Amino acid sequence: MTLFGKFIGNTMIRVLPLVAALAIGGFAIQASAEDGEADLERGEELYSLCVKCHKADGGGDSAVLAPAIAGMPSWYVEKQLQNFKSGIRGLHAKDTGGLRMYPMSKWLRTEADQEAVAAYVANMPATQPERELEEHGDAAKGAGYYAVCGACHGASGEGNEGMGAPPLIGQSDWYLKSSIEKYKAAIRGSGKGDPFGAAMIGMVATLPDDNAILDVIAHIQSLEK
Ligand code: HEC
Ligand code: HEC
Repeated sequence: MTLFGKFIGNTMIRVLPLVAALAIGGFAIQASAEDGEADLERGEELYSLCVKCHKADGGGDSAVLAPAIAGMPSWYVEKQLQNFKSGIRGLHAKDTGGLRMYPMSKWLRTEADQEAVAAYVANMPATQPERELEEHGDAAKGAGYYAVCGACHGASGEGNEGMGAPPLIGQSDWYLKSSIEKYKAAIRGSGKGDPFGAAMIGMVATLPDDNAILDVIAHIQSLEK
């Protein structure tokens, strides 16, 4: 076995029990995310609260650290809105972006409002954010690192509801980088009662340095249609 194969092998041994645990946890999410009844008109009305940062087309704005959210699955949007509202995400003292989003989540007073705006966001056509990072990694090397990530985020970066793992395609390069760095520093994922975020802290440990982060991002971006 090559050194790299061994590395991946060892990593998978660590990842697989987590994958199983998250798959069980994932059913809880699935059960709570029925968008059939969400009110899209109410969602549109509520989205006016989001436009300032996430922009009218949902493409996000790096100047205010707001990611692209248009077309994100409603189960993930809803889950993150709940995470922010309950302070599981976004309250770390060094989480500049999270600290901006946290108070916004409080404007959604009821679960029905969270559902409505999540359904509206999911219904918006996905944007294709421009590349903003000045440094680019090596997509071929990144594919090696991504072997671990694909177990949850899907081989094509399409996400996996059962695993609670969001799609990574269609996301801005700067936000992928900032999220990975935040997990690495336990600025995101270390909130009380955040098993999914905590799992990601474990996963980014498989990216040894800044180059590896850029490489895996280059691979994720090469997956885009
Ligand atoms: C004041 C600016 C601001 C407003 C207004 C705002 N957001 Fe955000 N939002 C952010 C920032 C900044 C982040 C990134 C947080 C981070 O880096 O972890 C974010 C993150 C998110 C995420 C998580 C995305 C992901 O990939 O995990 C969702 C979902 C979201 N916002 C939805 C909304 C919705 C819905 C509204 C309107 C009800 C809204 N936001 C209003 C700034 C804002
Ligand atoms: C065991 C399953 C699993 C594996 C493996 C995994 N992830 Fe994740 N990932 C998740 C989950 C679950 C979330 C949502 C966490 C949260 O709520 O903060 C997530 C979130 C993310 C986010 C934040 C996306 C957003 O919109 O905010 C990024 C970026 C990410 N993962 C990248 C990676 C990369 C890169 C790898 C491989 C090194 C990886 N993940 C491996 C499960 C996984």
